Amino acid sequence: MKTEALEVLKNRRAIRKFKPEQITEAELNVVTEAGTYAPTGAGTQGVQIVAVQSPENVAAVDALNAKVLNKPDAHPYYGAPTILLIFETEQCMTHELDGAAVCTNMLNAAYAAGLGSCWIHRCKQMFELPEGKELLRKWDLPETLVGVASIALGYADCEHPQPKPRKADYVVRV
Ligand SMILES: Cc1cc2nc3c(=O)[nH]c(=O)nc-3n(C[C@H](O)[C@H](O)[C@H](O)COP(=O)(O)O)c2cc1C
Repeated sequence: MKTEALEVLKNRRAIRKFKPEQITEAELNVVTEAGTYAPTGAGTQGVQIVAVQSPENVAAVDALNAKVLNKPDAHPYYGAPTILLIFETEQCMTHELDGAAVCTNMLNAAYAAGLGSCWIHRCKQMFELPEGKELLRKWDLPETLVGVASIALGYADCEHPQPKPRKADYVVRV
């Protein structure tokens, strides 16, 4: 039994406070590579991962997410120095499901690599807005990309959170 893998799956938690220092290239690569090995419908790999690290681009995505949230002063990525955006491409047969699988692999890999991470919502809405399309153009990416999920990624600057107790009837056997 791969007990270390099971330990990672059980103990990963959403981190919402980050140190400002940037993660290393090696750490980023470990996380994104794990994403590329996620299952995808019919194996189409119809997902695009975009790693956002320049302070200017991180600030633009943070502000865009805050706009969708209708809280312009908020920082929905909690000051994380890296944001991972997950898009479905035109090859994606199983729509947001593939992107969710990629996202989950990367969250677990981040924990395994000693990083903090949090799944952040509203990626779809962000890249439907003119500002989101403008960012895609600026990054030389197709405007046809559909946002699925995003991740705040960095070094945790907090105690590791405890999970809520699991609900009693989470699993039934039939
Ligand atoms: C689809 C989805 C969207 C989420 N969006 C956000 C978000 O926008 N902001 C945030 O702080 N956490 C977000 N989360 C993280 C959840 O709040 C978190 O996973 C949940 O509270 C359970 O905590 P845990 O991840 O530590 O087990 C999201 C999680 C999922 C699965």
